[in-house]
Amino acid sequence: MKILAYDRVEKPVLDQLKEKHDVLFFKNIDPSSDPEFLNALSEAEGIIGLALPVNQELLEKAPNLKIVSNVSVGYNNLDIPELTKRNIMATNTPGILTDTVADMAFGLILATARRIPELDYFVKSGQWTQSLTEEHYGVDVHHKKLGIIGMGRIGNAISQRAHFGFHMDILYHSRTRKLDAEEKYDATYKSLDDLLRESDFVCLITPLTKETEGMIGRREFQLMKDSAIFINASRGKTVVEQDLIDALKNNEIRAAGLDVFEQEPVEPDNELLIMKNVVTLPHIGSSSHETELKMSELAAENLEAGLSGRKPPNLLNPQVWEKLE
Ligand code: DGY
Repeated sequence: MKILAYDRVEKPVLDQLKEKHDVLFFKNIDPSSDPEFLNALSEAEGIIGLALPVNQELLEKAPNLKIVSNVSVGYNNLDIPELTKRNIMATNTPGILTDTVADMAFGLILATARRIPELDYFVKSGQWTQSLTEEHYGVDVHHKKLGIIGMGRIGNAISQRAHFGFHMDILYHSRTRKLDAEEKYDATYKSLDDLLRESDFVCLITPLTKETEGMIGRREFQLMKDSAIFINASRGKTVVEQDLIDALKNNEIRAAGLDVFEQEPVEPDNELLIMKNVVTLPHIGSSSHETELKMSELAAENLEAGLSGRKPPNLLNPQVWEKLE
């Protein structure tokens, strides 16, 4: 089978795929114009990889495609209705990255509250020459109120850490009530506005959809406490980035911890990059060695199933399967 692998598939998994299939791997290319990529696309029966924008334009150039296997849980790069219309299966890799992303989100909570990167630089650059003053203090995480927007698997894993490890009060906002989280972590359901008003930490972990795009903007930052710390571990486009910059500049919130940006890789002149109270990461929430390998393995399993006429374990558009059966 002809397979097009894109950007992030771990080497052992790529090698295994190559043993069985005719695989071409692409990284750091422009998928709309790279001639080799376009040629491979015209023959590909399967695509596996991370964040390739699979839309009508790309699909028109892929007449033989049967399945697109994302190496990520998020699938905002895939136009699912368009794939479904063309009877092409789409899959993702849920579950295995939950704890890894939750660890990272908690890392951002601690790093922003206790100003860890800023103070690391303070020590390493030789500025620690006298005893410290309150100018260097951070704020506590333990026993504070954590507001989680999006109580899915990752929201639950963050709540578990916050409730049992840090004795935090959990507030959450989600499309539906999550009685399980209420019982296990004593979490309280709130309207979005109440969550924003009451939380010391606001952690956004919702998928990017038409409904969540730009859901946190000027109005929402103004509702937050001046002392609030905002964490984004979802997708950059769930936030109106300029409004976040303004909120930080106007001291409407205390700090932000960001794994994701409106534009990725982030533009070097993005103002967020020069703010001391902003901790940044390069969209690396799920990227530990262990979890990246497991995600690639699961994506390959989804791909192999789809190509060999079995139902992929993580099928996003089951309507295609029903038609194929
Ligand atoms: C995911 O799995 O969605 C991660 O954010 C990587 O994109």
